[in-house]
Formats: sequence, C-alpha cells, structure tokens
Amino acid sequence: MINVLVVGAGGREHALSWKLSSSDKIDQVYTAPGNGGTSQNIELSVNDIEGLAKFAHEKNCFTVVGPEDPLAAGIVDAFIEKGLPVFGPTQNAAQLESSKIWAKEFMKRNSIPTADFQIFDDAQSAKDFVKSYEKPVVIKADGLAAGKGVIVCHNKDEANDAIDTILTKKSFGDAGSKIIIEERIDGIEASYIALCDGKIGIPMATSQDHKRIFDNDEGPNTGGMGAYSPTPIIDEKLASEIQEKIINKTINAMHQEGIDFKGFLYAGIMIKDGIPYVLEYNVRMGDPECQPILMRLDSDLYDYLRASSEGKLNELPEISWKNDYSVCVVLASDGYPKSYPTGDVISGFNDIPSNSFVFHAGTKKQDDKIISNGGRVLGVTALGSTLQNAIDNAYDACKKIQWSNKYQRNDIGKKGLSSL
Ligand code: AMP
Ligand code: GLY
Repeated sequence: MINVLVVGAGGREHALSWKLSSSDKIDQVYTAPGNGGTSQNIELSVNDIEGLAKFAHEKNCFTVVGPEDPLAAGIVDAFIEKGLPVFGPTQNAAQLESSKIWAKEFMKRNSIPTADFQIFDDAQSAKDFVKSYEKPVVIKADGLAAGKGVIVCHNKDEANDAIDTILTKKSFGDAGSKIIIEERIDGIEASYIALCDGKIGIPMATSQDHKRIFDNDEGPNTGGMGAYSPTPIIDEKLASEIQEKIINKTINAMHQEGIDFKGFLYAGIMIKDGIPYVLEYNVRMGDPECQPILMRLDSDLYDYLRASSEGKLNELPEISWKNDYSVCVVLASDGYPKSYPTGDVISGFNDIPSNSFVFHAGTKKQDDKIISNGGRVLGVTALGSTLQNAIDNAYDACKKIQWSNKYQRNDIGKKGLSSL
C-alpha cells in the first residue's frame, strides 16, 4: 500500500484528498498544510519543497500538487530528481500558467485560437498603443498574481489606469514587469480541463466557474464564487473541437518543443459565435471547478493521477462519471476579495443532507470548533438529477451553515439553466 501527500490548503485540495481517500489502493492521505476539513494535516508550507520531499520519502507517498505556486517553483522537477513519485507538470511545462506572455507566444506560434495581443514593458508605449487601438482591451500582468493580475477594461481611461497600476505603481511587483494588452472577447466563458500524461489528454467533465463577486457577474474578479458540472454551454460538438484544436494541439506542440505536459491542463475558454478561444491556461485543477467535477467522478482518481505521472493513461479504461449534475456554491467572508474578517466560529456541519458535501477552503480547526480563516471559506457542493435540482440541493445545504460574516452568490448555475 502507498500513502498520498496532497500539497495545498484550499477547497481544491480538500476535494482531491476526499476523493483519493476513497481509493482502496491508498493507506493514508496526508495534506500539507491542509485546512479545517482535511484530516491528516502536515505543517509544511506549499513552498517548502525540501520539507515536503523529506516527508514524502519518509512516509512512502505519491505526491499530488494542487496549486500553481509550487509547480512554477519546480516542485515536480525536484521530486523527480530525488526519485519520488509525483503528479503535476514540471517547471518548464508550468510556464503555460506562470508566464502569460510565454503562453500567448506559444499559442501564436502554434496557431491555437486566442485573442490578438501585444506585449509592453513601458507605460508610455502601452498607452500610445491603447490610444490607437480601436477595439476594447484586457490588460494582464505577465506573472502569477493570484488571479488578480487581469483587468478587463471598458474604456481607454480604465486601460490607462490599468497600465499605471501594473507598470508604474508595480502593484503586482515583479509579476507585472511586463504586460499583455489583448483584444477583449465578449462571449460565454467555460472551463475545459484535461488530464495529460505527456502524450494524450483525457477530458474531465466540463464545468463553468463564476468569477465575479456579485450576482449577474458584477463587481471585481475573485478566485471563483461557485461552479457546476457538466455545463450545457459545451455540447458534444464543441467539446470535440476544444479537445482537438486546443488540448491535443497544446500537448503535441509542447512535446515538439521538448516539454512533456503531465498533469491537469486547464483551458479557460471564451466562446464567441460558436468559436472557442483560449483566455488562459492553468496547469492544475480549477478551484472551485475541482469540487463539483470530483463529486461526479466514479473512477478511482489515484489510478488516473498515477498513470498521468507515468505516461500510461492509454492503458486505463474510459473514465467514468455520474450522470448527475453537481453544483458548488462558495461561502465567503463578507468583504472578499478585498479585506474581510476571520476567526468566526462556523456551525451547522451536522445538518448537511446526504446529497451534499461541504469542502473546506479558508477554515481551521481550533479546539473542537471550525473557524473562518480566509476569503473563500467553504464550497458547499451537491448532486442532483437535473441542474435545477442540484442548484436547489446546494442552496438548501448552504442554509444550514452559519457564521456572522457569511457571503454567497445566489445565482450559481443560472447561466447553465438559460442555455439548456
Ligand atoms: P485570466 O486569468 O486570464 O483567465 O483572466 C481572468 C478573467 O478575465 C477571465 O476569466 C475572463 O473573465 C476575463 N478575461 C481575460 N481575458 C479576456 C479577454 N481577452 N476578453 C474578455 N475577457 C477576458
Ligand atoms: N476557478 C479558476 C481557477 O482555478 O483559476
């Protein structure tokens, strides 16, 4: 028997730990550093690569890396060098997420559909470009900025402010030493995630995130306020187009450039006039998409992650999903994504019905209580035979959970209903 070490502290990592725990091939699942919902927590930061490697070696672990930061820092390369089994992309492969410029240039040279773009490191040239450009723009910091380095602009003043924020005021530090100015594409967004082994990518169930803080997609961007799966926005025809023109093309082009992409490849897709464009790549599972996707997974996740790391996905049977829909509503601390209180005691966990599960994100255990400890606190996730049914089940379960500064969106899944 082998043990598993899940690296990370969010809702995605609780979902990974939860699903991996159901494998009969695994003895213990450890999570580092974990949160109030994960059970065998190890007090190691996600960036303590040496400490994590030492623990994985001592406990005979297969390590599953959740978030992008340690992937960009080369955790997978370090584990491989030490002969430790690990799931996720190498540092080179992680450039698809860690440098938006690298990703855009990769897409351009490989004819992968994405918005037109220009790169700048100087504010005046960037502003001159905006002045002469006739279409609306989106301005992006090159590096990792915890999902906050993208500013969708509605006029030229907003674009100039965004340029100043990133290039002049350096609000994102070194992550903003270069920017991308790209054409704004107004369409419908969805998440397409594939599990890759360097040679092939098998599709996960489709999903749709809700990135803005308020209902009807208003207010600032967040890490994601809720997600559901599958999304009717990606029908079978569109799914096979995305698989072929984006996922397979990405894996093959990476391979030709000398990089085997192993791990979850997440394409953030904008669909306009039926055509899918890549807005961004992530090199990991989405959060919160992971929660509803894994709730629907019937296959043994461990088998698939292991095969991904060993380049053997073609040896496994077709992955199997429940027919049910799944909806995850994020319960956040009021004030998120700006400042918010923490330290509130959360109640109601024992009243959650059996069709639902509460994934923890920003929580911690204190004595025998669960207290809030972050912006996105919980992901209340429910199954249902229809999308409406899963939405109702998720919101019923949300009512059971209480704390003084709880905030939620009330329209998670609605966009899916309108396209059914
Ligand atoms: P990203 O981190 O690159 O996915 O960007 C964050 C969010 O900004 C996306 O989820 C979209 O809602 C929006 N966005 C990014 N790029 C574009 C674009 N070219 N056109 C319209 N919206 C965009
Ligand atoms: N839910 C969006 C992300 O994980 O980047």
